Amino acid sequence: MAKHDKTDIGISTLLNPVPVVMISSSNKAGDSDICTVAWAGTVNSEPPMVSISLRKSRLTHDYVEETGEFVINLVNKSLAKPCDYCGVKSGRETDKFSDCGLTKCPASGLEYAVAVKESPVNISCKVVSKTELGSHDMYVAKITGITADSYLLDENNKLCLDKAKLVAYSHGEYYLLGEKIGFFGYSVAAEDVLKRRLGK
Ligand SMILES: Cc1cc2nc3c(=O)[nH]c(=O)nc-3n(C[C@H](O)[C@H](O)[C@H](O)COP(=O)(O)O)c2cc1C
Repeated sequence: MAKHDKTDIGISTLLNPVPVVMISSSNKAGDSDICTVAWAGTVNSEPPMVSISLRKSRLTHDYVEETGEFVINLVNKSLAKPCDYCGVKSGRETDKFSDCGLTKCPASGLEYAVAVKESPVNISCKVVSKTELGSHDMYVAKITGITADSYLLDENNKLCLDKAKLVAYSHGEYYLLGEKIGFFGYSVAAEDVLKRRLGK
């Protein structure tokens, strides 16, 4: 069989890899929750906007409905296990901040939602629309503020996200991002730029 002979494998949510993130949210009474989400994406550049898709059954869905706010907390290697835990337990049955030993901290530009302090990057979001798609409701939101751990900034205040040891999700499994093999535009970059940025 030739390498690229094709077999029909049916229809499913097979777009991979995807981000996996921890969504923190609160109700107006001040209760907070964390929920793991893989159906998340960037959907606009100016203004910066994202989407997350939530089943109606999630406590997070209730909180986002109530306040129109949530925080996307990026997941690094040390948060991988808590991230999985927050995806298999509901805030309806337990306090996931306390179970995972995670700390609430203020979310830049938001009134209700809190951020997860242990996450390297916290992206504050305000909902602008909801679309009921079937199994999930998709919330499109504007980014209202971002905080990052200071160690991720270089001397020129440039964010070095490669230092964060982020995790991606592919076909039901978590992967640590590792080897850098290129950068935006590297296919047409000059030799000296390739050498500086890739060491070759
Ligand atoms: C890797 C992973 C990805 C998930 N992605 C989503 C998602 O995109 N949308 C969603 O509604 N639930 C998703 N879940 C399930 C929720 O995180 C899970 O039902 C969680 O217990 C809901 O918590 P809550 O009720 O406290 O909001 C995912 C779970 C895991 C482990």
